[in-house]
Amino acid sequence: MNIKNDALSLILEASDKKTLEEIKLQFVGRSGKLTTLLKELPKVPLERRPAIGQLANEVKEAIENAIESQESGIKNSELSRKKETIDITAPGIEPKIGHLHPMTQVISDVVDVFKGIGFQAAEGPEIETDHYNFEVLNIPKDHPSRDTQMTFYLDTKESKVTPGEIILRTQTSAMQGRVMQKIKPPVRVIVPGKNFRYEQVDASHGFEFWQVEGFCVDTHIRLTDLFGTIDYVLRKLMGQDVELKFATTNFPFVEPGVDTYMKCTVCKGKGCSFCKFAGWSEIMPAGMIHPNVLKAVGYDPQEVSGFAFAIGLSRLVTLRYRMDDLYDF
Ligand code: DAH
Repeated sequence: MNIKNDALSLILEASDKKTLEEIKLQFVGRSGKLTTLLKELPKVPLERRPAIGQLANEVKEAIENAIESQESGIKNSELSRKKETIDITAPGIEPKIGHLHPMTQVISDVVDVFKGIGFQAAEGPEIETDHYNFEVLNIPKDHPSRDTQMTFYLDTKESKVTPGEIILRTQTSAMQGRVMQKIKPPVRVIVPGKNFRYEQVDASHGFEFWQVEGFCVDTHIRLTDLFGTIDYVLRKLMGQDVELKFATTNFPFVEPGVDTYMKCTVCKGKGCSFCKFAGWSEIMPAGMIHPNVLKAVGYDPQEVSGFAFAIGLSRLVTLRYRMDDLYDF
């Protein structure tokens, strides 16, 4: 039957609802082709009417079914097209990019400040020899100050190395000898790095800790150069209004030894958990390099002099970011 075929092919080509409506009207609507044909039924001889009537109904049904299924097909593809739509005007989702570790930020600030006054940054080995970590620094084997530096020793049983000679460095001062043996004065170097000591771990102690060691050797270097340098650097790092005080102390590789205290920036000196209720934090031990150290690296203490210092980085970070627990690192 032509009507059926015509209708079905039109339906399959239809791509929107409106066209389908039109097809429906065209064939099965009140004045559609099929309806018109059915109206002619009374003219057909009686005995053929049932067969033709049945056929016409089947065609009607087929057309209506085809329209329905085409309609739902169109609806589905519209839906999936909608899902794919990208709204290029919609604001993006800001990606979480994180930030540098507080320690890394402080180290890079410290390096920048020192670079500004002519210091170079160097790195050294964390696995160190007893020689550079102690001997060169005027700390012979039997020196009592070794007791304060709870040292990790590496197991060298399987090698030719004398037992006890290879350690994890306990202080970045170990780089003094390595650097000074290589370069002649003037020397201005800082060494940021990790150190290791066998400490009980708690909120303010760790078995590894960061320091920036620094030293300067030239002709006519005096204690006031050390004070000026510390003052300049700490103001740059912690703010112009920091208050400092110096006291004498003892380290075998400096003479005299100096302790730098900074008024607690958290409680302004009143006493709080950050400064352990002292009002001041010991932040930078330092001193004039001992003549024995200068001699050990091949310098002439009659010709050159120098100062050395260490910045305790965790203290700097905790004070700057008000972190009161080392575990947060
Ligand atoms: N290396 C020492 C320590 O970790 C700190 C220190 C003290 C470094 C005095 C120095 C200095 O350069 O002059 O305990």
